[in-house]
Amino acid sequence: MKTSLVSILSLSLLIFLSLSSPSLSDRCNPQDKKVLLEIKAAFNNPYHLASWNPKTDCCDWYSLECDLNTSRVIALTIFSGNISGQIPAAVGDLPFLKNLEFHKLTNLTGTIPSAIAKLKNLQELTLSWTNLSGPVPTFLTQLTNLNFIDLSFNDLTGSIPPSLSQLTKLNAIHLDRNKLTGEIPESFGKFTGNVPDLYLSHNQLTGAVPKSLGNLNFTVLDFSRNKLVGDISFLFGTNKTIQIVNFSRNKFEFDLSKVKFPASLTSLDLNHNNITGTLPEGLTALNFQYLNVSYNRLCGQIPVGGKLQSFDMYSYFHNRCLCGSPLPACK
Ligand SMILES: *[C@@H]1O[C@H](CO)[C@@H](O)[C@H](O)[C@H]1NC(C)=O
Ligand SMILES: *[C@@H]1O[C@H](CO)[C@@H](O)[C@H](O)[C@H]1NC(C)=O
Ligand SMILES: *[C@@H]1O[C@H](CO)[C@@H](O)[C@H](O)[C@H]1NC(C)=O
Ligand SMILES: *[C@@H]1O[C@H](CO)[C@@H](O)[C@H](O)[C@H]1NC(C)=O
Ligand SMILES: *[C@@H]1O[C@H](CO)[C@@H](O)[C@H](O)[C@H]1NC(C)=O
Ligand SMILES: *[C@@H]1O[C@H](CO)[C@@H](O)[C@H](O)[C@H]1NC(C)=O
Ligand SMILES: *[C@@H]1O[C@H](CO)[C@@H](O)[C@H](O)[C@H]1NC(C)=O
Ligand SMILES: *[C@@H]1O[C@H](CO)[C@@H](O)[C@H](O)[C@H]1NC(C)=O
Ligand SMILES: *[C@@H]1O[C@H](CO)[C@@H](O)[C@H](O)[C@H]1NC(C)=O
Repeated sequence: MKTSLVSILSLSLLIFLSLSSPSLSDRCNPQDKKVLLEIKAAFNNPYHLASWNPKTDCCDWYSLECDLNTSRVIALTIFSGNISGQIPAAVGDLPFLKNLEFHKLTNLTGTIPSAIAKLKNLQELTLSWTNLSGPVPTFLTQLTNLNFIDLSFNDLTGSIPPSLSQLTKLNAIHLDRNKLTGEIPESFGKFTGNVPDLYLSHNQLTGAVPKSLGNLNFTVLDFSRNKLVGDISFLFGTNKTIQIVNFSRNKFEFDLSKVKFPASLTSLDLNHNNITGTLPEGLTALNFQYLNVSYNRLCGQIPVGGKLQSFDMYSYFHNRCLCGSPLPACK
């Protein structure tokens, strides 16, 4: 009798607990939960966020992550879903977010909301492969903990905010595949902390690359598919540490003959420019994984040695009078 009374008591306690409030076992911060449900409602309760059930612990929901100790939401990562509408201002009310990502959501429209400026703990911001339009916001400069910005594959317009160079922790800036215009900011030669990898390809950037960029040791520069002009040889030099360079499909115009390339360089894509002169002998000393100088106005014999003959003719073709292996012999 005694045991059954105990079990009845404990059973009813269990029932009481589970009925009264699921929040007894909820790690989720109530304020974060409220905000997440606002975000879900703003997107019209999409199927992609079906796990965001108000009766369950929000730290168990998909597309987000809670801090193990504090249970505050630190990552919101929504990608590859059928989500339509604009980024709700409510995302700015998740004050502990370190990582915000909206990726591969082609029905996501509108501009990047200024509410994001409230996320002072943000380290990574990815808004990519969406239909977001409007400018690259200058308010990103207020998010001093950012180490990664990816705004690639959107419909962003306007120019690149010079103030981004004030962010001292940046490892990379991806602004490629937008409709950005204007020049590369002069300030991008004055990053004061980390020197970020710059991915600016497939935009409509114009003008010359600022000389100031020659003062920094970049690792990756991708300026391909823009309308940039002039000489970029100051980005090379024996005491630089650059590794990957893609300047293809611009209007760069300079004499390659005397350019000294750093030993660190592993990938050099210069195709479709207006580069003159000869291929410098120094190229034979480099441990290239990729080289493409096709579609320029180069001349003379391809130096023999190093990796230069390991590439096929398509790395060299369509120049004015470049010759020698792997192209036909010089006359
Ligand atoms: C949680 O707290 C412990 C002890 O204070 C700490 O060592 C750990 O790094 C913290 N974990 C996270 C994810 O913050
Ligand atoms: C996306 O959602 C809309 C509206 O709910 C629906 O009409 C459409 O078929 C969905 N598309 C896909 C690819 O699931
Ligand atoms: C975008 O929205 C349109 C119209 O509702 C829908 O047909 C389409 O499937 C959606 N696309 C994606 C990738 O969700
Ligand atoms: C989103 O962009 C794609 C191309 O990137 C386009 O085909 C589509 O119509 C756009 N959708 C909306 C809702 O703007
Ligand atoms: C770039 O790196 C080289 C080699 O490590 C070093 O000698 C040079 O001082 C660096 N330049 C700058 C501006 O940091
Ligand atoms: C350089 O950029 C062009 C255009 O963006 C791209 O097609 C090409 O694959 C890139 N080259 C390398 C070596 O990645
Ligand atoms: C870089 O190299 C040039 C000549 O090759 C030299 O004059 C200059 O002092 C070097 N700069 C640094 C920072 O090492
Ligand atoms: C290349 O340079 C030549 C000589 O300066 C000029 O006539 C031509 O228009 C340039 N081509 C391109 C594609 O910029
Ligand atoms: C070099 O670039 C040209 C022009 O885009 C391209 O046709 C060729 O395949 C490229 N070569 C290599 C080895 O990728």
